[in-house]
Amino acid sequence: MARKKIALVGSGNIGGTLAHLIGLKELGDVVMFDIAEGIPQGKGLDILESTPVEGVDCRYSGANDYSAIKGADVVIVTAGVPRKPGMSRDDLVGINLKVMAAVGQGIKDNCPGAFVICITNPLDVMVWALQHYSGVPANMIVGMAGVLDSARFRTFLCEEFNVSVEDVTAFVLGGHGDTMVPLVRYSTVAGIPLPDLVKMGWTTQEKLDKIVQRTRDGGAEIVNLLKTGSAYYAPAASGVAMAEAFLKDKKRVLPVATLVKGGTYGQPDDVFVGVPVVIGEGGVERIVEIELNAAEQAEFNKSADAVRGLVKVAKGLMG
Ligand code: APR
Repeated sequence: MARKKIALVGSGNIGGTLAHLIGLKELGDVVMFDIAEGIPQGKGLDILESTPVEGVDCRYSGANDYSAIKGADVVIVTAGVPRKPGMSRDDLVGINLKVMAAVGQGIKDNCPGAFVICITNPLDVMVWALQHYSGVPANMIVGMAGVLDSARFRTFLCEEFNVSVEDVTAFVLGGHGDTMVPLVRYSTVAGIPLPDLVKMGWTTQEKLDKIVQRTRDGGAEIVNLLKTGSAYYAPAASGVAMAEAFLKDKKRVLPVATLVKGGTYGQPDDVFVGVPVVIGEGGVERIVEIELNAAEQAEFNKSADAVRGLVKVAKGLMG
């Protein structure tokens, strides 16, 4: 069987880290693309030269022309501008929308059958725009946010409980941003839901509330520390987990930004927003629809409405 081809559109901090992780996991051959001349070529060659040391067989190349992504099985999009301290993800709509127009056309012309993972912010509206411009079917395009948000939630929970990362699961719904909805009662330590752990005296409700807020602010916490850009190690690891689920037909249940049709999750109309899905060779094979209580539904609706608001802004900019 021929090796899979993975195209990385955007070869900045996240793109470079994606390329490295894909090689370490031997997921396929990597084509790095960027508008910056020399960057994808240089990073590609540098990582290629690490493969004999790691003992992995993956080819790497870099390009400034979209023809290089022809026939890709997976495309991971990080092209665009990250935020700086004081900026919200939403401040990036105008500039990154134009980038999605170019990337979408590149995908349409060269690999319309690929599984597309968007990481560029503001995430949910960028996934919407990328689907609009690329014409990729809704089951074959997702946004990476929930895997990262739940990884941040899990990290803080592991620290609080002093238990292994392997035994903590977390459930996050909604858009990537201040309105994300961490679902405490579906987050567990070895199957024990967090509210039970409060009852067992493992933590307090107050501490749990602080962890939820830190999760919501997780991206900003990193931006404020780095000052020159945004997070990239955890976002790249999250994107690779999604690509691997597709390439290996793992049927993983992961929270992703996907097209939630009107009627699903109580939504009045279609919206791209974060919900748990099954990812396998068919892309998004199923949306996992859980029952929300009134408070959770209200939070989810608020989050979906925030995405709708940004889509409206984007449509206005598209003219
Ligand atoms: N086409 C291709 N690449 C582009 C384009 C474009 N039209 N515009 C910008 N780029 C490239 C830049 O040249 C740069 O190499 O996108 C890359 C972005 O890299 P970084 O600035 O290092 O940003 P990164 O940290 O990787 O984040 C990328 O992901 O999480 C989001 O908010 C983040 O939107 C940002 C994106």
